[in-house]
Amino acid sequence: MCGIAGYIGFRRADEVIISALKRLEYRGYDSWGVAVRHENEIRLIKRMGAIGDEKTYSVAEGNAGIGHTRWATHGKPSEINAHPHTDCSGKIAVVHNGIISNFQSLKEELESRGHVFSSETDTEVIAHLIEEFYKGDLREAVEKTIGRLKGSYALVVMHAEKDELVAARYKSPLVLGVGDDELIIASDVPAILDYTSRVVYLEDGDLLVLMKGDFEIFSDGRKVNRKVETIPWSIEDAEKGGYEHFMLKEIHEIPRVIEDTLFEYLSDDIEIDISFAAGVSEVTFIACGTSYHASLIGKHLIEKLAGIPVRVEFASEFIYHQPPMHRTLAIAITQSGETADTLEAMRIAKKLGARTLAIVNVLGSTATRIADHVLYTRAGPEISVAATKSFIAQLIVLYLVALKLSGMTKSEMEGLLDELRIMPELVKGVLEHEDEIRAIAEKLSDYGNMMYIGRGIGVPIAMEGALKMKEISYIHAEAYPAGELKHGPFALLGERTPVIASLTPDETYEIMLGNIKEVKARESIVVAVTGHDDAEVEKYVDHVIRVPRTDALFTAVTHSVALQLLAYHTAKARGCEIDKPRNLAKSVTVE
Ligand code: F6R
Repeated sequence: MCGIAGYIGFRRADEVIISALKRLEYRGYDSWGVAVRHENEIRLIKRMGAIGDEKTYSVAEGNAGIGHTRWATHGKPSEINAHPHTDCSGKIAVVHNGIISNFQSLKEELESRGHVFSSETDTEVIAHLIEEFYKGDLREAVEKTIGRLKGSYALVVMHAEKDELVAARYKSPLVLGVGDDELIIASDVPAILDYTSRVVYLEDGDLLVLMKGDFEIFSDGRKVNRKVETIPWSIEDAEKGGYEHFMLKEIHEIPRVIEDTLFEYLSDDIEIDISFAAGVSEVTFIACGTSYHASLIGKHLIEKLAGIPVRVEFASEFIYHQPPMHRTLAIAITQSGETADTLEAMRIAKKLGARTLAIVNVLGSTATRIADHVLYTRAGPEISVAATKSFIAQLIVLYLVALKLSGMTKSEMEGLLDELRIMPELVKGVLEHEDEIRAIAEKLSDYGNMMYIGRGIGVPIAMEGALKMKEISYIHAEAYPAGELKHGPFALLGERTPVIASLTPDETYEIMLGNIKEVKARESIVVAVTGHDDAEVEKYVDHVIRVPRTDALFTAVTHSVALQLLAYHTAKARGCEIDKPRNLAKSVTVE
């Protein structure tokens, strides 16, 4: 998730912008840049890595400027790809968050008219389009430009010849800070709070003109008024968007993450070129931790929908078997793209003859350089150590890959695609039950052990639910296929071991009810996660977590979000340090 900051006022713009960008560092970034208007010229710096001490960077004197922290999406992390981007004349500078989905065709069109591009980014087309439309009125040029853009954007633009910024928002946030004789525009509130707590949240379709000491907002070409609100939060609270922990904020971001990931790969049809799978007779997943659980769900989906046999390997164990892989597609799933065991397993899979595909959240990470093919999840940076939104984004990519591999026609898969399209709404339906989930979590928080159970796709759901619970609440949580309980784990059950059961609306439902009755006979407290219309289960269990009803395949999303909330609120009730659990790191770069 990139960060934007723009300033116009009486202070040195470079100093304000760099300090504002530092306030957005929590969002994660790989490069950054600042442009300042100085004597009718744009002065620019771009750098890789962290900003560090702002005092060491002086761009130029000037009271208007824009800046950006970039989390790479189109084009690798590099100084050239860092924002701000400029047009051919160097007079127009642009910073942008979001994705311009038609940038390739716009770029070809602009190149045919003589524009020369220096970066691989989608953003640069915006600067060149503005250049074409600019006839002395920046607002008019930006208005015409956004009429040509498809996708999502928050952008701020500056022209060398006037102390004025023009900003536009569509499906990517922008907030204006209104100080005394100064204005600061940013993608998030923490960037603003050092200067003012009075803000205006822009709405989709808004166009904002910032002048010295004044601003105007337009929507559909007409001037509109938006409310000025006062932010009551401290900067630290604001970084978390008002949530107590990053983990909770990231869980609440899931509907948007699903939208962004679907936006990347699903329009009328699934936009994934699966030529990488041509001629393969089996798939092997390699991954660790939560990504391993996503792989288990991927196995379920690919075997069920595409009928291709699938193995799932812990990356750290794969090293020791090394099977022949000449007709194998090896799919590495890794949020960070830097997990040492996964990288090593990918290298071995390649040596063994496999074709490799990486499903990764971090653009330009090592996994993307090893793999033959890459599919990106669009979760944005995840700050909390426990993976939540990145896991759900992995699942969304896996649904699309499995459907594409299935060879179903568009009309055959339309029902499933329709459900995927409403998945952001379904997840919002899970989040609406947060208060009930919190109440159950508080009841569970005194126990030292838990058992998660499921059948079919419910097994990896249970495994991921148990992992979330143990890593952040430090409660020992095991996950088992419900049918395995009798083969040993039953001995652990009793009134001090609550059981969390995932019930999916498929052929496993009735037999799961039977298993729940057996568990209840051992006096364990049972919490069932099930569809909102399941009237049967509450006869047998102590607590029910209700989620919107979906096809059983999609319960991996709805149930997992509910179990993430259950783990979060249990850990919170126990007073654990949720975002940084003891002994764990976000990126595991040693074997
Ligand atoms: C658990 C968690 C870890 C990671 C694992 C793999 O919440 O985050 O289990 O899933 O370390 O990390 P990546 O996906 O970066 O390879």
